[in-house]
Amino acid sequence: MRQPQHLHPVEPARAPNVDLEAEADLARCGALKDYWYVACLSTELKAGAPLARTLFGTGVVLFRDAHGRPTALRDRCLHRNARLSRGAVFDGRLGCPYHGWVYDASGAVVEVPSLGPSQRSELLDADACAREGLQPEPCKLGQLQHFPTVEQDGLVFVFMGGPDASRARAEPFRVPYWGHAGWTVYFMVTRFPNGVTNLVENFMDVPHTLFVHPGWFRKPASKRVPATVRRTAGSVLVTYKQEQDTVTGLGRLFNPSGLPLLHTDKYYVPNVTRVDYLWGDHGFVINSQCTPVGPTDSLVYTAISYRLPVDVPGALVGRALKPLVRWYTRQVIQQDVVIMGIQREGLLDGPGGGVYSGTEADLHHADIEAYRCWLREGGHGAGPEEAEREMAFWI
Ligand code: FES
Ligand SMILES: [Fe+2]
Repeated sequence: MRQPQHLHPVEPARAPNVDLEAEADLARCGALKDYWYVACLSTELKAGAPLARTLFGTGVVLFRDAHGRPTALRDRCLHRNARLSRGAVFDGRLGCPYHGWVYDASGAVVEVPSLGPSQRSELLDADACAREGLQPEPCKLGQLQHFPTVEQDGLVFVFMGGPDASRARAEPFRVPYWGHAGWTVYFMVTRFPNGVTNLVENFMDVPHTLFVHPGWFRKPASKRVPATVRRTAGSVLVTYKQEQDTVTGLGRLFNPSGLPLLHTDKYYVPNVTRVDYLWGDHGFVINSQCTPVGPTDSLVYTAISYRLPVDVPGALVGRALKPLVRWYTRQVIQQDVVIMGIQREGLLDGPGGGVYSGTEADLHHADIEAYRCWLREGGHGAGPEEAEREMAFWI
């Protein structure tokens, strides 16, 4: 019997370019976890209050120890697994909300209220406790998983790759122009409904600005923009040849005298982008550090650093303009949140999500994926080889 013919040829299955599930799973993300990730702003971590975060699908509780240093522990009580971040911090120690077990900053159990003042089992001796699988005193109860932390440039970083932070494959990323005279720096924290690969690609993507931010960055110019893409040592640097480009919106504020524009976009493995719009020694820099919460859920810490062409000592004019600049950048980021949600909808719509197509204009996206894929698979060897290529797109 003749088999019915397919009207359309069946496309060969292609592997997804981006595996969001694996990338955000601590057990399957390979070497992606071996870097420092921002857990919160320094100002979000108040003395005396725990803070809940999720990184790579893993609950982490942060608090400040008796010296004010940030501490990060697994957010799950050893006793009956209650969320410790719902408890209380006192004297730099963390108390569980359920039965009051107390943990010190290293994650050791230091007090069990139900053991009373002696803090020892009263009826059962050590042998009987061992037979029942119980512990006679707090110090025998073991230790919560502890994650190394670093506080730097107004950010608290956590290392999820194990207890030994010397294994980190890079230092925590420095916020551009943090503490530099004449520069104003502020942070924005944004929850994005998408995974880190798609976010860093979005932050490095110029063609979308015409569609997602119409009139907010630049007007459609029917102009060809050549660029150089350089992939080297865990970074992807895109240098645009658009010296005469005019940036609309707040761009005019930064370049009243029409100086040539130096526009570069840079990606640093595994989760950081830095976008520079500089005219001489002033302009603005947008630095985004993405923290994976789950497969399509991320927290992005954006540092906006800017310097006006003319200012008085102390960058008083720049600082006075901060509410306006903050409002502008919040609008633009919110437009990206919406488009990332729209991309997510398509991604999750049945099989085939994560299989991407591209043209010359997506050359740097392929470089980002090459690095992240290499790290997800363990990051062995030297990684994607160095390359420098020309690309072009129209805006
Ligand atoms: S669940 Fe934490 S003390 Fe009981
Ligand atoms: Fe955007």
